[in-house]
Amino acid sequence: MAETMTSAQVRESFIKFFESKGHLFVRSSPVVPHDDPTLMFTNAGMNQFKAIFLGDNPKGWKRVCNSQKCLRVSGKHNDLDVVGRDNYHHTFFEMLGNWSFGDYYKKEAIAWAWELLTEVWKLPKERLFATVYEDDDEAWQIWKDVSGLPDDRIMRFGAHSNFWEMGDTGPCGPCSEIHYDRGDIATQAETFKDPIKGVNGENDRYIEIWNNVFMQYERLSDGSLVPLKAKNVDTGMGFERICAILQGKTSNYDTDVFTPIISKVAELSGVPYNDGVEGTPHRVIADHLRALSFAIADGALPSNEGRGYVLRRILRRASRFARLLGQKEAFIYKLVQVLADTMGDAFPEIRERKDFVANVIKSEEESFIRTLDAGLERFETISADLKKGEKIPGDKVFLLYDTYGFPPDLTGILAEEKGLLIDEEGYEKCMQEQKDRARANMKKGINTMGSEGWTEYAVGSTQFVGYEADTAKVKVLRFREDKGILSIVLDTTPFYAEMGGQVGDKGLLQAEGLDIAIFDTIRVNDTIVHRGKVTKGEANKDTMSVEFVAKVDMRLRDDIRANHSATHLLQAALRQVLGSHVAQQGSRVEPGFLRFDFSHFQAMTKEEIQQVEDIVNDKIRATLPVNTDVMDVDAAKASGAMALFGEKYGEEVRV
Ligand code: SER
Repeated sequence: MAETMTSAQVRESFIKFFESKGHLFVRSSPVVPHDDPTLMFTNAGMNQFKAIFLGDNPKGWKRVCNSQKCLRVSGKHNDLDVVGRDNYHHTFFEMLGNWSFGDYYKKEAIAWAWELLTEVWKLPKERLFATVYEDDDEAWQIWKDVSGLPDDRIMRFGAHSNFWEMGDTGPCGPCSEIHYDRGDIATQAETFKDPIKGVNGENDRYIEIWNNVFMQYERLSDGSLVPLKAKNVDTGMGFERICAILQGKTSNYDTDVFTPIISKVAELSGVPYNDGVEGTPHRVIADHLRALSFAIADGALPSNEGRGYVLRRILRRASRFARLLGQKEAFIYKLVQVLADTMGDAFPEIRERKDFVANVIKSEEESFIRTLDAGLERFETISADLKKGEKIPGDKVFLLYDTYGFPPDLTGILAEEKGLLIDEEGYEKCMQEQKDRARANMKKGINTMGSEGWTEYAVGSTQFVGYEADTAKVKVLRFREDKGILSIVLDTTPFYAEMGGQVGDKGLLQAEGLDIAIFDTIRVNDTIVHRGKVTKGEANKDTMSVEFVAKVDMRLRDDIRANHSATHLLQAALRQVLGSHVAQQGSRVEPGFLRFDFSHFQAMTKEEIQQVEDIVNDKIRATLPVNTDVMDVDAAKASGAMALFGEKYGEEVRV
């Protein structure tokens, strides 16, 4: 093998090699494809060239090469569930590629692939295998002539592995893969002594490193194939895998692509890394950090829908694994800097946007962590009674969702780890029932917080007075202590609970000899729960039975309020500049920043952003008076008020 190269050198030598064969280097496109509605995320190097394959080549490109940022977490190519459990699957990865648009074809593609692997990188020929599509005699013969590989090392496979398609529709064609035998390293080595079983078998001894697609068809939505105008080549090589091979590592995670991140995970958590099962959390976190960071840097945001929801799932999976490393606070965002340091040269966008990326990840982590604890405990109790292969009943899946914010797919992941399934139909049924019940029970103020451990003084619901007052005399209806954290429900409260992406209030609960610092206010179903820590005195059945003064930290509240108003200004300005189709998809309002997710069909231009900023700033500088009126919904609408996504409104609304 050649002298050990760093990953940066591997990337560079690939590109140099193809430049020397007349290829133009084209930058990676964003991992969020802004112009292809058939794709959620960029999943292959060829995505940005799709139109060229389909016949539209305005720049007249013939040969190009690059290293493309890819994400495989949804749709046709999806590896999410196995990531971290083995050493070579990833959600985010780089794909080194070379392309011919109606220029060279099978012969050159195969010859150059062989030259790069065996002459430039000096991989031992006896470890390489080629595969071709079952009836592709032409490719088979080229391999024979070019490589001199023995006949049984040029293997034929069916469409599953050797006919590549971009998605349900789009360009496609037969392909030829190159596999590498990593030798006696895997536990299954014995089983796979026979490469015929090893190549394309699920094992980590024989791994695919490079796919050469001979793009000659388009798949139409009725399933039929039509020939493309020209014959093209589309190749993709797994960058992390080739780095592992060239650096003599058995795991991608032991290459310098990952080691800085993994070391940081180990350093910050105090849990050392190894490449066995114990290292799964490190690997999951390192992988998901890359996926999240690049997707966010390229313009996606976690949300409740579509692409954003996939990101939210990835974050929650990572966050769950951070918890296995003992991390009870936001953790993943702390790694963004290392990623920017290791990948900022190849992909400057990650360095430029690292603060924004870290902010988004942190706020998502924090909002998820709030419910994780209680939910995990509950999950353990529920699953303890079930045997492998059994289903977690729909009502329990629903309970985890409804009370602890666990989306059913997260419960699915947790269940899978225990060899369990979830009853999705039952869950859907409960969801519908709840919607019906909610309508019927609107006014009854039912307490749905059924868990144990509460000290209860009185049954009732909380009167919220936070619009009129920042301080109130209050009594505790019930409270519970868990590992030093108090959960308190009051008869009256000026504390605003987290809702619609706006963080809950902080402040103080005070009685004679007892101070409780409230660090968060959350909503569990419709109940406002104050989360606090005793800073003076002791909380017990007696001391908690008295009257308290509840005081909201108004400095923070004012900042939250200002940012809340700013989301409305921002939305109005966006609608003015971009059009009335702009709809809010979610938001996050904190004292220090706000985030506003909205739908629009393309990226905003610099000018549009400037215009929006100017409108918002002008409105702020005008220091317009803010008046509050309570009116019924129809009157509110008539006055020009806009109902927001995801908010439920009562009959009377505050405008
Ligand atoms: N498009 C092919 C793949 O993704 C080759 O780049 O495997």
